Amino acid sequence: MQRTIDWADGAVELIDQTELPEREVVLRITDVAVLVDAIRRLAVRGAPALGVAGAFGVVLAARAHDPADDPDRFAAAVASVREARPTAVNLARGVELALGRVDGGVDAVLRAALDLRDDEVAASWSLSAYGADLVRELVGGPVRTMTICNTGALAAVERGTALGVIEELHARGELVEALPLETRPLLQGGRLTTWELARMGAPHRLLVDSAGPFLLSRGQVDVVLVGADRIVRDGAVANKVGTFSLALAARYARVPFVVVAPESTVDPATASADDITIEDRGPGEVVGVRGVAVAPPGTPAVNPAFDVTPAELVTAVVTDRRVVRFDRGETLGSVPLGQRRTPSRT
Ligand code: MRU
Repeated sequence: MQRTIDWADGAVELIDQTELPEREVVLRITDVAVLVDAIRRLAVRGAPALGVAGAFGVVLAARAHDPADDPDRFAAAVASVREARPTAVNLARGVELALGRVDGGVDAVLRAALDLRDDEVAASWSLSAYGADLVRELVGGPVRTMTICNTGALAAVERGTALGVIEELHARGELVEALPLETRPLLQGGRLTTWELARMGAPHRLLVDSAGPFLLSRGQVDVVLVGADRIVRDGAVANKVGTFSLALAARYARVPFVVVAPESTVDPATASADDITIEDRGPGEVVGVRGVAVAPPGTPAVNPAFDVTPAELVTAVVTDRRVVRFDRGETLGSVPLGQRRTPSRT
């Protein structure tokens, strides 16, 4: 599959995820405002991919406004990228990383962005291997996995996070079935995760969000695997709204609840859940689904795009460099970074 985001012939190229699964459309972007719009409307989305988009955004900004000659317009363009979405720490991080190389000129900024892209690809493959090993340790034999949102290659440049683990389990012959939640309001599970599962040939059945806790309570799930947009110092996890409900249900059902994310999503500078900005995307996405009204005109609505799951509901956090067993009293601060894995690519 083409990478979800990349740099080609002087432009950011990205798969427009709003068009999936109906159409595979690749956008070529050379303008900061167009990139910001793509981020806001989720044409590119998912924490690791947003980090790479942020870094490429700085490249576009530096090309449009020489940072030395026109620092104000450069700074404004960079700020518009950084602030396009608030919850995933990767976006601001990607911007800052590229910004740190601005004194070296546009080529140095581009090199930093390309390095970040490569780093996220390597991280995805590593955490997929760590995650699949952990699932075997926690559950044993072939497993039924539940997940929410889209955490595959579309969200992470290549391979994915939680869906990367599911793909690795499938490659190892250890996946009985994947159960993706449709993920209202924007249906990342229904539109994107099913698309990726079908392409990898993995057995799966889609379910509505509210069926997740019930299937957990009926013993139909062996492990819940979710991604993250930000994992803060006390271990709380911001991820797609609906994640918290799954964690509560998993605890009730005594099913392991595993968070899978690269180290670039770990944010020790933010202390706890209360310090995380949760994006509210407004009522439109709630009262209508893909252009079809599902509520009377003018219905007020609340639309938090993410929720926060406290560390006490998380069995383990798997990253590209470590597995942190919260269920054994380990914390992000107590487990040092280890080596990346370099599994053979399937
Ligand atoms: O609003 P989205 O689609 O960007 O939300 C994405 C998620 O919540 C993902 O679970 C998270 O970014 C991890 S992606 C590997």
